[in-house]
Amino acid sequence: MKTNIVYNDDCVKILNSKIDKNSVDLIFADPPYNLSGNGLKWKGNKTGGDWYMVDEAWDKMTAPEFLKFTRQWIGACDRVLKSKGSIYIACSYHNISESMLVLKQLGFKINNIITWYKTNAMPNMTKRIFTHSTEFVIWAVKGSGWTFNYETLKDINPEKQKNGNKKQMRDFWQMPLVQGKERIRGEDGKAMHPTQKPEEMLKRIVLASSNEKDTVLDPFAGSGTTAYIAKKYNRRYIAIENSLEYLKIIENRLKK
Ligand SMILES: C[S@@+](CC[C@H](N)C(=O)[O-])C[C@H]1O[C@@H](n2cnc3c(N)ncnc32)[C@H](O)[C@@H]1O
Repeated sequence: MKTNIVYNDDCVKILNSKIDKNSVDLIFADPPYNLSGNGLKWKGNKTGGDWYMVDEAWDKMTAPEFLKFTRQWIGACDRVLKSKGSIYIACSYHNISESMLVLKQLGFKINNIITWYKTNAMPNMTKRIFTHSTEFVIWAVKGSGWTFNYETLKDINPEKQKNGNKKQMRDFWQMPLVQGKERIRGEDGKAMHPTQKPEEMLKRIVLASSNEKDTVLDPFAGSGTTAYIAKKYNRRYIAIENSLEYLKIIENRLKK
């Protein structure tokens, strides 16, 4: 099986045809949240380009289609994940229920639901509900004996105890939506991918649940954050992304 590779195709197809059974140590999946198409847009936003609401063709499905899709891709991940492997799934209130349901039906154990508190969350334009400022990352495992590099996570935890000592990493992560130099932008200054995840998030996940030379797979690679961080920390990476436009961003990022 090839590693340190980026595939440009549908992830279910690639997972079922190119990736060996029981071969992957860690999967980070940031699937479509199925939140596009509600018409809310905000021109002039500085973080995500002109349109801060994700509004992409790959992110629009009916509810039954979305559940079927979630079953297909998590099922395909289940086949390739080692018995001691971990899967992390990024989600929001839009799609957490489908992922949780499928993970439970497949017999996964949920270790944590990490809350990402987005410190620079967008204001609520409707003023009719509480302002959304969180997303989640589900950490699920298949059996016992999973990798958790507890001390490493303590070492990199920016929060300290009152006396300055290292602190356990909690399941509540405060970090901004990607901005500044980290945000990948085109020549026109607009963000090139609408949902680029923070490198700090992937650093914590990769260092927590894999070791050097392990294989880290991302079925919805987007701008390639997972592969970039896996490479940086000497892991093997497999990235799958079905958009050619985004594939080019990943390839450029990995060259750096
Ligand atoms: C939420 S984004 C991932 C963003 C990524 N975590 C990052 O940091 O840039 C989901 C990505 O999955 C891709 N995608 C959607 N459906 C797919 C499929 N069936 N197979 C492979 N990629 C898919 C989309 O083109 C999009 O780039």
